[in-house]
Amino acid sequence: MLSIDNKGTNLNDFDLIIIGASIRYGKHNKIVYEFINKNQELLESKENAFFSVNIVARKPNKNTPETNPYLLKFLKQISWKPKNLAVFGGKLDYQKYGVFDRQMIRFIMWLTKGDTDPKSVIEYTNWEEVDRFANFICSIKDRKGIS
Ligand SMILES: Cc1cc2nc3c(=O)[nH]c(=O)nc-3n(C[C@H](O)[C@H](O)[C@H](O)COP(=O)(O)O)c2cc1C
Repeated sequence: MLSIDNKGTNLNDFDLIIIGASIRYGKHNKIVYEFINKNQELLESKENAFFSVNIVARKPNKNTPETNPYLLKFLKQISWKPKNLAVFGGKLDYQKYGVFDRQMIRFIMWLTKGDTDPKSVIEYTNWEEVDRFANFICSIKDRKGIS
């Protein structure tokens, strides 16, 4: 696994590229857009996948690539069409946030009828879904004979 801003890595050395990014204040990090725009041709020449992590995906009606508003918006903003997509719920950890972020996220959670207790630590990730996605990606790797 590499950080997206990892310098000196030759992406051509990889047969399969998976990009994962979380949502902060409604957006994926701009580094993700820059990386995709810069490497689109190369991404398209490989097996590839993209997954998004966000708290809105805690909702059963917003937890798929077809229903998660952030992923849908993101896909409209880029011209790369990932071959495989996933969305996972993220982690809420009010204790870790600074005062501003804690209040903002509590407000967002209140608006979306979520947990606003400033002591809450909740992992909304469905790890079975993560396993399923990982196994699916591995099956592509096996089918294509990628080592
Ligand atoms: C400052 C901040 C802003 C966030 N904004 C949103 C948001 O607008 N919508 C959302 O669904 N989740 C939001 N989240 C939840 C994150 O997507 C979730 O906590 C994720 O697990 C964070 O992963 P990371 O720490 O790797 O970035 C926010 C989290 C933080 C810390």
